Amino acid sequence: MTDSRFTTTTAGAPVASDEFSRTVGPDGPVLLHDVYLLEKLAQFNRERVPERVVHAKGGGAFGVLTVTEDVSRYTRAALFQPGTQTDMLIRFSSVAGELGSPDTWRDVRGFAMKFYTSEGNYDLVGNNTPVFFIRDGIKFPDFIRSQKRLSDTHLRDADMQWDFWTLSPESAHQVTYLMGDRGLPESWRHLNGYGSHTYQWINAAGERFWVKYHFHNQQGERNITGDEAEKIAGADSDHYLRDLFDAIERGDFPKWTVSVQIMPYEDARTYRFNPFDLTKVWPHGDYPLIRVGEFVLNRNPENYFAQIEQAAFEPSNLVPGIDVSPDKMLLARVFSYADAHRYRIGSNYNELPVNRPKAPVHSYAKDGHLRHVWAEPKQPVYAPNSLGGPKADPARAAEGPGWQTDGELIRSAYTLRQDDDDFGQAGALIRDVFTDEQRARFVDTLVGQYNSLTRDAVKERFLWYWTSIDKTTGERIRARVLSSGKAEADKAVRAPDLVSAPVGA
Ligand code: HEM
Repeated sequence: MTDSRFTTTTAGAPVASDEFSRTVGPDGPVLLHDVYLLEKLAQFNRERVPERVVHAKGGGAFGVLTVTEDVSRYTRAALFQPGTQTDMLIRFSSVAGELGSPDTWRDVRGFAMKFYTSEGNYDLVGNNTPVFFIRDGIKFPDFIRSQKRLSDTHLRDADMQWDFWTLSPESAHQVTYLMGDRGLPESWRHLNGYGSHTYQWINAAGERFWVKYHFHNQQGERNITGDEAEKIAGADSDHYLRDLFDAIERGDFPKWTVSVQIMPYEDARTYRFNPFDLTKVWPHGDYPLIRVGEFVLNRNPENYFAQIEQAAFEPSNLVPGIDVSPDKMLLARVFSYADAHRYRIGSNYNELPVNRPKAPVHSYAKDGHLRHVWAEPKQPVYAPNSLGGPKADPARAAEGPGWQTDGELIRSAYTLRQDDDDFGQAGALIRDVFTDEQRARFVDTLVGQYNSLTRDAVKERFLWYWTSIDKTTGERIRARVLSSGKAEADKAVRAPDLVSAPVGA
């Protein structure tokens, strides 16, 4: 073995110099056969993989989930059985900013978890809010483009953001969270996480339940003001990353309580609004929180690129006892993430140590770029086979199709129910959950947003949007922007010409 004190090429051979290229005499030209120089330059050109198309800026840590309660009557998933401990990885992120963007820009925060369970990886890829901006995945690329950059100036643009949001009234609930205190968390340690979607749990008897996940941080929810956020963005754009790393380094391990809301399978048919609509929360009065356990983050990554940048989270990583639901957003995500990883990291991304399951893998997948884990040499390369190769699990097949459905192949919004509307829960959040101080900060933020708009049509729709969500909020914004001389606000607030009318209007 080469003496470990020597620098080597990536092929392990000691190199002659880290500082000088091989040249013809001290002043002569550089030689093409300086293989170390060539390797260094070529390797450097390939140091980056494409950044995530969303959630590019982030950081993470490893930890352990401990199940302290008994929820086995709802799910047979091994990781949720009483007393089970499961290693996990979490990655926190901002949605719209690029890899180097300041942590404290106002945004929703990503809360992506990978559990290395005894039955394969289970990924829960959520956010710090329980709802989302849209309810159909076909709108996701448009939504994200409206939050990113214009194609000519390459600048972010308030008109574009609010144009999309106000033309998509289903965004009201999530935008209310975003413009409220939760849009500016103090750190990743002080935010709560949500699975957001409705998932399905299946117990050992094959009974199904609808489930929503909640992760309440035990440090207490803490947020910062817009002024503080701006100062921090200037002084330390990696504030969240540093805060989490330093806390874990000094042994101050952050913890989250894991709870679920459970809806009996049959309730979904008759519940007063569609329980699969990602723009809605389930009131706790109807479906109270049930405690499951807690997780702690106790280990920093050793290598950011290998363990965080190359971490691949995907809502399609499901385990026995857990399944998707008829939520159209979730079903779109089930395609999107693994596809993103194949492009961003490469087709064998699940072989990387951070993504590799701790459960045994008996897959018929074969070859592809950088494959270095393989099946036993005698395993047949096809299924079915009569040579004793791995066989599909009959218990998984017995879980059945998931839910009953029947209908024409169409493109349509969810069927409306009695309490399905775009603005109701958003308005209740402002009126019933925000405190007076929070409401005051919220209106300040919205006045600032209004003042950054330039297009009259968007300004008008902005006032209509907030008045529809909460009349008092709309009036307060109007009064403020009027008194600051914004004549446009003088116009009557009228319903704009929307592509589709707000749900429940
Ligand atoms: C990241 C697509 C909705 C949370 C991503 C990525 C894609 C994507 C392509 C980048 C993946 C990568 O390159 O590693 C979509 C689509 C959606 C959707 C198509 C809607 C149909 C959501 C929702 C949530 C969410 C509703 C939360 C409830 C996240 C998080 C990440 C992410 C946390 C970052 C994961 C990480 O840390 O690596 N999304 N997304 N997304 N998405 Fe979504």
